Amino acid sequence: MPTKKKSNTKRKKILVLHGPNLNMLGQREKKIYGSISLEKINNEIKKESKKLGIEIEIKQSNIEGELVNYIQKAGKNGCKGILINPAAYTHTSVAIRDAILAIKLPVVEVHLSNIYKREEFRHKSLIAPVSTGQISGFGKESYILGLNALTSIVRN
Ligand code: DQA
Repeated sequence: MPTKKKSNTKRKKILVLHGPNLNMLGQREKKIYGSISLEKINNEIKKESKKLGIEIEIKQSNIEGELVNYIQKAGKNGCKGILINPAAYTHTSVAIRDAILAIKLPVVEVHLSNIYKREEFRHKSLIAPVSTGQISGFGKESYILGLNALTSIVRN
């Protein structure tokens, strides 16, 4: 009798995390971040997730500890990977770095701006060395590229 192939139709879930001040996109430093709002970026992410056939959960917080909590709970909530723009915490947060080290999920770090083209204090990411990879400098496309990369990682 032919063995029944295990169906793999269950959609994988990815957590999309936005850090501090990203709720101000569209109003803040438009020369750097453009005039797109976070809501519009989230809509583009949702559209792409539908194309990719994955499920997403999107959160934004200005509070470091809240981001840590989301990272810690991601696995329990059924997420198979995290796409994160840690914003300013990229350059300062040992707590977010430790939270990523404490979980077993792949993490892709994204930035709208090219952090290596900006002030020197932005050149250092505490998150990149504990992430699967980093995408920086493509505006909203950074999220789309990151989502595609993470999707293929969680699928394999
Ligand atoms: C950012 C870059 C960070 O340096 C900055 O603090 C942000 C946004 C980006 O997406 O380009 O808030 O993460």
